[in-house]
Amino acid sequence: MSKSFKTFLKHTAKDFHNQSVNPPVVRASTIIFKSMQHIRKTQKKAQKNPIGGHYDYGRQGTSTTHILQKILTKLEESYHVFTTPTGFGAVFLSIFSVVRPGDEIMIADPVYSPTRLLTQDYLKDFNIKTVFYDPHNLKTIEKNINKKTKLIFVENPGSNSFEFQDLGKIISIAKKNNIFTAIDNTWATPYYFKPIKFGFDMSIVSATKYYSGHSDVMGGSLAVNKRVFKKVQAAERITGLRLGPDDAYLITRGLRTLDVRLDRHRENAKKVAAFLSKNKKFKLLYPYKKDSFNFRMWKKYYSGASGLMGLKIKSKNINSVRKFVNSLNLFGYGYSWGGFESLVLHQEFRETGNRKYLNLAKDEHLVRLHIGLEDPNDLIADIKQALRHLK
Ligand SMILES: Cc1ncc(COP(=O)(O)O)c(C=O)c1O
Repeated sequence: MSKSFKTFLKHTAKDFHNQSVNPPVVRASTIIFKSMQHIRKTQKKAQKNPIGGHYDYGRQGTSTTHILQKILTKLEESYHVFTTPTGFGAVFLSIFSVVRPGDEIMIADPVYSPTRLLTQDYLKDFNIKTVFYDPHNLKTIEKNINKKTKLIFVENPGSNSFEFQDLGKIISIAKKNNIFTAIDNTWATPYYFKPIKFGFDMSIVSATKYYSGHSDVMGGSLAVNKRVFKKVQAAERITGLRLGPDDAYLITRGLRTLDVRLDRHRENAKKVAAFLSKNKKFKLLYPYKKDSFNFRMWKKYYSGASGLMGLKIKSKNINSVRKFVNSLNLFGYGYSWGGFESLVLHQEFRETGNRKYLNLAKDEHLVRLHIGLEDPNDLIADIKQALRHLK
């Protein structure tokens, strides 16, 4: 019987051996064998079937991490999923797997700022050049591609400024020029967009966010197709970038309700967006109004939207923006997102890094809102009372 993914999530990973609904947490450094021959047998099995969950040492994982990888592989519709200790670990692994000294990376200008720092600053010392492209003008990719370009790294939508890109066009440019592709898909997760099925070689999700969903665990996933599997597997081995079993367990537990939570984040965000879109003091950065390029690009490629959105506020009075943000009662002030609760961040120090194509005037400010699972009417009432400070 073929089951929908929603049903699969509720019924997978039962432990019939222990008669428990959930799998046990198997913690191990040493894995015990009967003999050297038995170790060799397991290693042979692992060579023959590298995604089969045959381990001879705890750094390679245990049944707990394997269960999570199997669930994510199904969700991603990918060849395999590697799990890492943080989302940023998955970003690093994707780049480290395919890029070598002398190569160039083409990267979306609005990437998550640590990804920007990794590529433009840190990798420069390894003779790896980074070229940033304009998410809304893909000619900046075509113009700058050359024989050294090894990877196009996309993040969609753009971090903090929420630009949606023409993903189909990016894939066709990459295929024409035989360039690897990676996308940071944390905002949508494969629940709303499946990058590997679409044509990307690698897809990153910070499991810290919606996968775990409860703001109490860090983790990352890197889904891959067959083309890059061996490269990523080799890089994963050599770096030891693997998720521990306790975190894997918590992320698996979170995944049981991923669909329910994301559906609710989407509904809540839509209600809050409807309220925010009427206010002339700011521009809403969320695929809500049907009249924009961003909306069209979102509609073309995504089956839904998550709870993260932005506001571009025009104000000469930065204190009033601070007051607006600080007087929100139901939105916690802090990093990360994707948990059950609402959060806010004012990108006061341009945490966007030294972006080349950021369309932001001196008196414009970016505020990021994560719409949680609270009653949306309470969230709207909270924003309403705080808005009185915005001048
Ligand atoms: C889009 C995006 N990608 C990657 C990361 C990194 O994930 P982690 O915090 O799990 O390392 C973040 C974290 O905020 C993010 O927002």
